[in-house]
Amino acid sequence: MTDVLSGGSGVMNNFTFDVPTVIHFGRGQISHLAELGSAGRSVLMVYGGGSIKKNGIYDSAMKVLDDAGLAVYELPGVEPNPKIGLVREGVSMCRAYGIDMVLAIGGGSSIDCAKLVAAGARYDGDPWDLMVDSSLIHAAIPVYVVLTLAATGSEMDNSTVVSNPETNQKLDISNNFLKPRMAVLDPEYTYTVPKEQTAAGSVDIMSHVFESYFTNTAGADIQGEMCLAILKVVVKYAPTAMEDPENYDARANLMWCSSLALNGLLTLGAKVKWCVHPIEHELSAYYDITHGVGLAILTTVWMEYILSDDTAPKLAEYGKAVWNISDGCSDMDAARLAIRRTRDFFDRLGMPKSLGALGIDDTHFEAMADSAYGFCKGCYVPLSREDIVQIYRNAL
Ligand code: NZQ
Ligand code: ZN
Repeated sequence: MTDVLSGGSGVMNNFTFDVPTVIHFGRGQISHLAELGSAGRSVLMVYGGGSIKKNGIYDSAMKVLDDAGLAVYELPGVEPNPKIGLVREGVSMCRAYGIDMVLAIGGGSSIDCAKLVAAGARYDGDPWDLMVDSSLIHAAIPVYVVLTLAATGSEMDNSTVVSNPETNQKLDISNNFLKPRMAVLDPEYTYTVPKEQTAAGSVDIMSHVFESYFTNTAGADIQGEMCLAILKVVVKYAPTAMEDPENYDARANLMWCSSLALNGLLTLGAKVKWCVHPIEHELSAYYDITHGVGLAILTTVWMEYILSDDTAPKLAEYGKAVWNISDGCSDMDAARLAIRRTRDFFDRLGMPKSLGALGIDDTHFEAMADSAYGFCKGCYVPLSREDIVQIYRNAL
């Protein structure tokens, strides 16, 4: 491993902050879906395996959309780690029925599926082309969101992550045409999220923050401090949400943390290149595991792997702010303790510790590292292909 941090230190970079997503946060905000009535005549509702029918969100949304006079078409059955096949179906429906907009109701998988459908509907070709080369996206029909799981930040960001099981690829693209126009964030809609998804979602939020926090841009203080604040809030409320699923404040704080972690506030102005995410995406591409579970296994393994005299101060700063590690510790001791506390916290959330616990062995490590390597270039501590293989091995 190269022990020099990439990018060096630098002043806060120039940026443009442009988030067009109107957020309606709180109880009863689904009434704002009525506004879709003035944005078009027909909507494609994209959702997952049926949780929204069990918990009543489907009926609530349908009523508002009907009252607004919209023709509603449906694309159900989005699987976790959404697949390109269903996106293709959605694009065909948009073309066949001249659909004006897409409404995702669900977690990141439904939102990501909807985003690619929206872009595919304005692209004359196979939507998978857009995942391979996002510069082909020049338009998209508008995307609206009702969020039901605090995790990915997809409700307020410009990214989509879609899998192609035929090629074992899970790709992540960003394009401003994918930004939702509106997102309804009603914390009560997350009361029915199962414990293990609450935990995985919380780890995902933390990982998004870590990806932004570990930057070599020394002058981006405000971004770094916001990262630490979000981490503290997730650490405070994730266990509460698991033990007391209808605790409004816990659900509300996690939900807003999900959006804040990825809407650009933590990243813009700093040189940020994600590292653990590309390594995890290979795991969910090959083994279809829950994204947050993969992150929980890899995060502390990655932290241990990159720990050095160069990185210890940043890890120590995190440990002191989030885990109250005493100022008296050396940076190296505080960093080690911070990593241990992070792993203990993931244990408390019931997250698996190792790839072996998921039945994953080293069969595909080389191929996975080949793919992940390109996406990790320029990250906080540069990683070679061999480093990535070693991180997978250390996670076994
Ligand atoms: O399928 P349904 O019935 O909706 O059930 C889902 C699913 O089984 C369930 N669920 C969601 N809300 C619920 C609920 N169950 C009961 N009550 C509710 N209120 O939870 C399960 C997981 O849902 P999913 O949407 O897959 O979870 P998540 O939000 O964690 O999304 C994961 C996907 O997003 C990608 C991940 O890689 C993964 O494919 N990501 C997207 C990002 C983005 N667009 O910016 C960034 C992330 O880093 C991530 O990569
Ligand atoms: Zn994530």
